[in-house]
Amino acid sequence: MFIGLDLGTSGLRALLVDAAGRTIGDANANYSVSHPHSGWSEQNPKDWTDSCIAVMAALKASYPSDFAKVQGIGMSGHMHGATTLDAEGLVLRPCILWNDTRSHSQAARLDSNPVFRKVTGNIVFPGFTAPKLVWMAQHEPALFEQVDKVLLPKDYMNFWLTGVAASDMSDSAGTAWLDVGARDWSDTLLDATGMRRDQMPMLYEGTEGIGTVKPDIAALLGLPEDVQVVAGGGDNAVAACGVGAMEDGDGFVSLGTSGVVLTARDGFAPMAETAVHSFCHAVPAQWYQMGVVLAATDSMNWLSGITGVTPSELTQALGATPEPPNDLLFLPYLSGERTPHNDSAVRGGFLGLDIAHTRNDMTRAVMEGVCYALRDSLEALRATGAAPKRLLAIGGGTQSDHWVAMLASILDLPLDVPAQGEFGAALGAARLAICGVTGADPATIMTKPTLARTVHPDPSLVEPYAQGYARYCKGYSAMKALQ
Ligand code: XUL
Repeated sequence: MFIGLDLGTSGLRALLVDAAGRTIGDANANYSVSHPHSGWSEQNPKDWTDSCIAVMAALKASYPSDFAKVQGIGMSGHMHGATTLDAEGLVLRPCILWNDTRSHSQAARLDSNPVFRKVTGNIVFPGFTAPKLVWMAQHEPALFEQVDKVLLPKDYMNFWLTGVAASDMSDSAGTAWLDVGARDWSDTLLDATGMRRDQMPMLYEGTEGIGTVKPDIAALLGLPEDVQVVAGGGDNAVAACGVGAMEDGDGFVSLGTSGVVLTARDGFAPMAETAVHSFCHAVPAQWYQMGVVLAATDSMNWLSGITGVTPSELTQALGATPEPPNDLLFLPYLSGERTPHNDSAVRGGFLGLDIAHTRNDMTRAVMEGVCYALRDSLEALRATGAAPKRLLAIGGGTQSDHWVAMLASILDLPLDVPAQGEFGAALGAARLAICGVTGADPATIMTKPTLARTVHPDPSLVEPYAQGYARYCKGYSAMKALQ
């Protein structure tokens, strides 16, 4: 038996699976994000460990005999967060999260040094880890002096479980300290941010074991002795393991809080200027690339908050089938944008509002705007040489048939929709543990999910949407001109 843990931004999901990766059961616990100042986003690592205690207790209570046979644990986590520890291994301050923009000026300064893009293959985005430590050095020097280790969120969890400070290549690729092609820390980049290699965790591949659960933690969680913990990975790489996106061109489009278009790559083919992220995969000798849209279903949540109508009611009011776009355009830059603009200052808006426009028109424009933003990410990926022929459609927004149909026509790609069941990062994390403990080949374990259906682009909509996308592309500079 194996446990996959997915440390998400809003909660921890635990999945108990057998050695073939079949689901036995799951458990979830939620925690919150604090925003002590505008643009700040933090979490207390104790909330993560408390949630781990809760989900393990729930799994043990529901599946006692299977839980007693657990051999391995794999962890996925939200990326880029800085969890700083002192020499005693104690947490120095709340973790600064991926969507925290306080270090935007430090990020811009690092990014203006060409060595960062050259070595990492990526822009230094404000959400990445290195600029957060530069911010700490400037604003919290007494704490910065005490930093003995910097751990990514899931690595802190693995440290709590095992006592070993370890990280994996996929998550470390989002720090701006990793030589992503060489899969090793870069002393040049560490030096350029006032950091040292001894402050970094040891590096592993996601499937490699880092140690066993410490006896006191095993007793606390009710786990058997000698449960092995693998290094795990960053959430998008591990989600790719969950849906079997392993070979060049295999990928997914995710309509989640943030939107992602991701494809696996056989080699490291960065093109930082596209604002595509080029990161190590969670399995050895493989990479992936993705474009990130910061507010995907978050844009719909915003409209829901404004109108007082739930997102599912808003989308259901449109019926199942999209129509050609009208003149109302929505730019989903509610929290700025990563791909392709790398602009934390730009903001969104509706363009072309007419007195006759209705709530349904606004809903439709929001959905179209998010799809156009994902098309931007797809085009950025294509510029790097990625050539997806079809994509899996995952994430909460895919519950709307209308949205999936619209997305297929706007991306002009067939979208495969998985059947109900487990295929996310928690499954991917459990699969990494299976490979690590049993020595199974990732290719045999990281299979694709059963499909419910394939949604093809509607030929009568592809051209009208292409025109809509051309208008959308002009929206960014129009918005910038007004700011
Ligand atoms: C990826 C990113 C997010 C976080 C949170 O670069 O910032 O996907 O990993 O999910």
